[in-house]
Amino acid sequence: MINDFSCSDVLCKRAQQIIPGGAHTYSKGADQSPLLGPKFMDHGLAGHVWDVDGNEYIDWAMGLSSVSIGHCYEPVLSAVRAELARGSNFQCPSPKEVELAELFLREVPGAEMVKFAKNGSTVTTAAVKLARAYTGRKYVAYCSDHGFFSYDDWFMAKKPNNAGIPEEISNLSLTFRYNDMASVEELFATYPGQIACVILEPMEFDYPEDKFLHKIKNLCNRDGAVFVLDEMITGFRLAYPGAHRLLDIEADMTTWGKGVANGFSVCVLAGKKEILDLGGITHKKDRVFLISTTHGAEIHSLAAAIATINAVKSENSIERNTATGKVLQEAITKEIQKSGLTDFISIKGHPCWQLLQFRNGNKEFCDGYKTLVFQEFIKHGVLFRGSFVTTISHTEEDVQNTVSAFSSVLKVYSSALNSGGYEKHLVGDPVKPVFRKRN
Ligand SMILES: Cc1ncc(COP(=O)(O)O)c(C=O)c1O
Repeated sequence: MINDFSCSDVLCKRAQQIIPGGAHTYSKGADQSPLLGPKFMDHGLAGHVWDVDGNEYIDWAMGLSSVSIGHCYEPVLSAVRAELARGSNFQCPSPKEVELAELFLREVPGAEMVKFAKNGSTVTTAAVKLARAYTGRKYVAYCSDHGFFSYDDWFMAKKPNNAGIPEEISNLSLTFRYNDMASVEELFATYPGQIACVILEPMEFDYPEDKFLHKIKNLCNRDGAVFVLDEMITGFRLAYPGAHRLLDIEADMTTWGKGVANGFSVCVLAGKKEILDLGGITHKKDRVFLISTTHGAEIHSLAAAIATINAVKSENSIERNTATGKVLQEAITKEIQKSGLTDFISIKGHPCWQLLQFRNGNKEFCDGYKTLVFQEFIKHGVLFRGSFVTTISHTEEDVQNTVSAFSSVLKVYSSALNSGGYEKHLVGDPVKPVFRKRN
């Protein structure tokens, strides 16, 4: 039973003093973990991670889903090592930039140009900027049911923690609901000819219904807006090359990241040449100062991306991850049924990226019960943060051990439901929403 997090807790205190949020991604913050849980990781291998107290976990979070094949996957590491010995950044571009660009465009039909960056926020924001320049319009519409697109103002403007963003900027961002075509139509009716782009993920845990994506695309085409799909999580994960293929839809621009380089930092903006080339240096139109970063084409990371994309293909990783995800989903569903908790716990999504949802005695979604599940899983050596991200590094044994841990977790859940709530079983506070006005 895992119960010692003393080194984690010491590091956590030190970090809070000198790093705002104690981490460099709010999703990694201490407020996203149960008190009885690891706050700092030491290392990982394949589908497992070890925290700084030496506790080992089956890892279903996989570095915020950025480690798409597995920790320390050797073919990616050896590609990186080979480049590390040759230097990582020069005054002129490296041939790796052209090699990855050509590979990406071969593998992603419909895309005609690419631009690399280190972070997803950089590429989604670049898509928005290009769309504004291309259309000469100022409004941006994004799907409010999808978790995150960027820490930049156009996205954060409509979140509760939007301090530092002027109202004039907030007013330029509009939101709609997933699978709610009326909410998209209403935006276009209110702002005809004024919306630069619509951006959403092809899907999160709900599949598009009634040709939702196709209807948005048609509306964008009719109104002259740019249609952007964010494949940050879904790309090279739900289908090859991305969820847009699975759902049979093509966007004007797509953004990629977490499936691209097995945890190394490579994100991609891809799309139509007539839009992306506004950031070029040979045309005669008004110039867009597109992504321009010193570290954007760090050479060994580009090598990691090339090795990752090749491995996803050669290892049939999407088929294999889907198979693992299906086994997991069936077994988890059986356990929920056996425990009589079907009114309180449910699982949904594509087998490669599945969400478990938790409800309280009143059948309302509840962060307290969710945190209790995190806590109890941790006791059994399973790192679970709401969704299961499957990789080819997860073994049958990992799945079996997770299911058997889940059966123990469910006993505690039942007991909490039957005896006064999660508070009696959870040590510390529930995890908090990342998007909240005050701490
Ligand atoms: C769908 C989606 N888009 C964009 C981003 C932003 O990526 P990054 O954290 O690399 O800036 C994320 C990050 O979680 C994401 O999930």
